[in-house]
Amino acid sequence: MCGIVGYVGDRKIEEVLIEGLRRLEYRGYDSCGLALNGEKSGIYRKRALGRIDNLARAIEGHTPSDKRSGIAHTRWATHGEPSEDNSHPHCDCSCEIVVVHNGIIENYSSLKDELEKKGHKFSSQTDTEVIAHLVEEKLKEISRGAGIKHALPEPLFFEAFRRAVNLLSGSFAVSALWVKAPELIMSARMHSPLTVGMGEGENFLASDVSAFLKYTKKVYFMDDGEIAAIRRNSAEFYDFKGKKNNKQPSIINWDLSMAEKGGYRHFMLKEIHEQALSAQNTMAGRLLPFEEKRIFSEIGLDFNEAARIKELQIIACGTAFHAGLVGKYVFERLGIRAAADLASEFESRAALLDRGTLVIAVSQSGETADTLHAVKAAKRNGNKVLAVTNTLGSSITREADYTLYTHCGPEIGVASTKAFLGQLIAFYMLAVNFSHARGITDPQKAEQLCRQLLLIPDLIEKTMALENKIEKLTEAFSSKEHYLFIGRDLSYPIALEGALKIKEISYVHAEGYAAGEMKHGPIAIIEKGMPVLSLALSSQSLDLIKGNIEEAKARGADIIAVVDEESKKTVKARHYLEVPQINELFSGALAVIPLQLFAYYIALQRKCDIDKPRNLAKSVTVR
Ligand code: F6R
Repeated sequence: MCGIVGYVGDRKIEEVLIEGLRRLEYRGYDSCGLALNGEKSGIYRKRALGRIDNLARAIEGHTPSDKRSGIAHTRWATHGEPSEDNSHPHCDCSCEIVVVHNGIIENYSSLKDELEKKGHKFSSQTDTEVIAHLVEEKLKEISRGAGIKHALPEPLFFEAFRRAVNLLSGSFAVSALWVKAPELIMSARMHSPLTVGMGEGENFLASDVSAFLKYTKKVYFMDDGEIAAIRRNSAEFYDFKGKKNNKQPSIINWDLSMAEKGGYRHFMLKEIHEQALSAQNTMAGRLLPFEEKRIFSEIGLDFNEAARIKELQIIACGTAFHAGLVGKYVFERLGIRAAADLASEFESRAALLDRGTLVIAVSQSGETADTLHAVKAAKRNGNKVLAVTNTLGSSITREADYTLYTHCGPEIGVASTKAFLGQLIAFYMLAVNFSHARGITDPQKAEQLCRQLLLIPDLIEKTMALENKIEKLTEAFSSKEHYLFIGRDLSYPIALEGALKIKEISYVHAEGYAAGEMKHGPIAIIEKGMPVLSLALSSQSLDLIKGNIEEAKARGADIIAVVDEESKKTVKARHYLEVPQINELFSGALAVIPLQLFAYYIALQRKCDIDKPRNLAKSVTVR
């Protein structure tokens, strides 16, 4: 949540910052702002409510010509309503220090009380503003000789910043400028992502590499408890005590076109269309010829250790949780007991885990605060953790013992689509491999399942042929305010995911239910004309779901059934969305696609802001 961008170098700084903010807008978009540090002109600061365009318009023709560095921010409000005053950058009493921040400063009110007693005047309701005043206070403290004597502005700023961040508790990625050190950006990270991009005679920083990928692919991922001093020709890293860290940069293999809309109206639609390719990428080089140790050696898990794992605990939030629920069903079908829990409900229960249980944490961003906390709780209990994530170097990969990357490429649309699909594929691959390692699935069967998995990208392409039909169908439904999604067994999490997609981007009421639960309450809400999206694929539970469809129809529901060629012969519905036939085990990868498209086109008819739905941010880095 919230996005930070910074730049020091010779380019037009405001252009680099605005462009970076646009790429990070998915992280939060209720307000934004930037600050530039000029050699003579000092700090220039501008903030705007709403979208980045408002900021771009507000600064046009007004920025100083002698600027040397800059920082910028796009906000998703936590403390203080969205307003210009609460937008970042925030400054100290005389606006000589400016700060942008992502995260939550948990002890901000006690810090603020102390600073107010010392005469500091606050002008916002945010937790962030204390950081600027703290740096100001530390500058005074050092200059008064209370600490090390620093004659030069840069070491002085470094030390004041270092002392200030040592007083913060909570989660933060923070960057600051001081008027007297115009070529230095100070940054710190604690439980909130921050990356530094290395250029030639210029350097970048951002919450997410997509902000500067156009300029460089050489990246340092900052660690928790790390400070960075970023200048035009160098980036140096230190711990909070001031000891220098030697870091190695990573090279990012995404290219910029992967993070752009490529002719689609919305990122979400582009990402739905990318699913065949991204499924292929998730599987690439991991399946055939079937080799029992391949995936385990990739993630660094010893095969014999994998063979001893009897039970799995999956944790995740939102869409990733739905993928985790699919994972649970697939693992269990292949003979391995698995539980799936919401990460936000898990932390206090981690102590009950058997030490031999492998925890699988699923997170597209790798930064979701609840998932990270749940991972830490599992680690405290002595459990090993496997992260399934799409994001190289993300926080979750540092906490986990093993990581399986989904390789879906950047997902920008707030509503997750291709990342969900990548997570499903990751679970399918893991389930086949763990089941084989335990001796439950024999090598021939494992190889056969891998072959079926490799068919998925082609079958996704075929499923996309439903798009026109779905677009037309949504014309008839777009005024509906209530939807039900029902499924059983492996399709139950897909029903949950369908309901979540339509809720988050269309702002309508939708419920996903295990169809067997309908008679235990929810059937009471069905009335004439209510759309009930029913997952009715060939499966062990097809007869049961057909019964549930009949019960809903008898109460006036308008049934839209997701079927395959075989099941369509016996399912009675008003509308059919037919997906290709596939092994039931992997059917979720196809069945979810019509539901994603349905949600997309309903939102389009309702003129909703599809890529930036209200109240949502792409990464939920606060709890
Ligand atoms: C919904 C959506 C969210 C995320 C959830 C977890 O479309 O995107 O529900 O799935 O916030 O995010 P990650 O996977 O980044 O941990």
